[in-house]
Amino acid sequence: MKIKAAVFYEPGVPFQVEMLELAAPQAGEVLVKVAAAGVCHSDWHLMTGATRHVTPVVPGHEGAGVVVQVGEGVSRIRVGDHVALNWAPSCGRCFYCLNDRPSLCAAYIGPLWAGTMMDGTTRLSHNGQPVYHFSALACFAEYVVVPEPCCIPLPQEVPLPIAALIGCAVTTGVGAVLNTARVKPGSTVAVYGAGGVGLSIIMGAKLAGASQIIAIDTNKTKADLARQFGATHPLLASRDTTAAIRQLTEGRGADYVFEAIGLPQVQEQCLEAARPGGMVVLVGVSPMGSGTNLPGAIITRQEKTVTGSYYGSANTARDFPLYANLYRAGQLPLDGLVSRTYSLEQINEAYADMLTGHIARGVILFP
Ligand SMILES: NC(=O)c1ccc[n+]([C@@H]2O[C@H](COP(=O)([O-])OP(=O)(O)OC[C@H]3O[C@@H](n4cnc5c(N)ncnc54)[C@H](O)[C@@H]3O)[C@@H](O)[C@H]2O)c1
Ligand SMILES: [Zn+2]
Ligand SMILES: [Zn+2]
Repeated sequence: MKIKAAVFYEPGVPFQVEMLELAAPQAGEVLVKVAAAGVCHSDWHLMTGATRHVTPVVPGHEGAGVVVQVGEGVSRIRVGDHVALNWAPSCGRCFYCLNDRPSLCAAYIGPLWAGTMMDGTTRLSHNGQPVYHFSALACFAEYVVVPEPCCIPLPQEVPLPIAALIGCAVTTGVGAVLNTARVKPGSTVAVYGAGGVGLSIIMGAKLAGASQIIAIDTNKTKADLARQFGATHPLLASRDTTAAIRQLTEGRGADYVFEAIGLPQVQEQCLEAARPGGMVVLVGVSPMGSGTNLPGAIITRQEKTVTGSYYGSANTARDFPLYANLYRAGQLPLDGLVSRTYSLEQINEAYADMLTGHIARGVILFP
């Protein structure tokens, strides 16, 4: 079938909206009509060259839609299901899946980074040449073909734009708090970066019962947004940020410090902002090949823990429905996260708005 999709060719060249060919789902694959796709910074890392990927590629990895066709052997998903798309499919059988770390699944990681399906081929093409799938999803497109584990059914009462955000920002942010850090009630939390991911960390920290949530951003608009999602102390980033965090935490530093930007120099500040015995959680994706200078002597003597958090250490089949239920119960105010919607043709404008930082999350809607 012919579909409209946004294509990435090379860093610095705007996304091109083009007609592509999408082949039918093969065994174990599902065809989904995309309803909404979130504008996450991880796709933008392609544009700056911070993340390198085989091209041409259709980006988009925060999506939701309705199942229209299933391939042979698909048993869990039915036509008509509303699904949030999972960008880290897992096999259920490898070492990581068996040890409750499905976001690290070893079976899918190769094809995922090769931009293909499990058989090493793409379903997307243009004039007979392959077009690659970003993170198994490629959902800046009217339709997607994805492996079955990418489809997580959600109740139809959950609006599809909300389901889309559960597909990345929410699961990444809330999961970093609940699954990776396991923030204890009453703790102090600092969050650097209040974009879609950082705001989700703030929501997660509130849900976990943090007594103080300090949100740091370079953008003044984000301070107001952060407060709306539960930050108790929004701060404008400055040279004195670490001192301000210490002052707010009886001179110690925060119990948990989250980095949701992806800048090595900010990751370094996070270590200073964490108290002795505290934890630094790196959620932002820094450029491939970059290094972060974290002094080992401080980590040792002050027993600080530094950990990464990938997709909120999620088990998506368990966590997507959990977050959907918390949303329906009014405990995750996800409606406020969707601050502006766009058509696919406006994708470059949507990314420009993300970069100016005046919006929480932009969402592309498909008619
Ligand atoms: N770990 C994961 O699994 C995962 C998943 C999704 C996204 N990410 C990454 O998380 C990061 C954030 O994604 P997002 O979609 O929320 O991005 P975003 O662009 O919406 O938000 C980033 C925020 O950081 C702020 N910022 C920029 N420089 C700053 C600085 N020096 N100090 C303080 N604030 C600063 C911006 O003003 C903005 O509000 C990206 O690196 C993205 O790739 C990681
Ligand atoms: Zn994302
Ligand atoms: Zn696995």
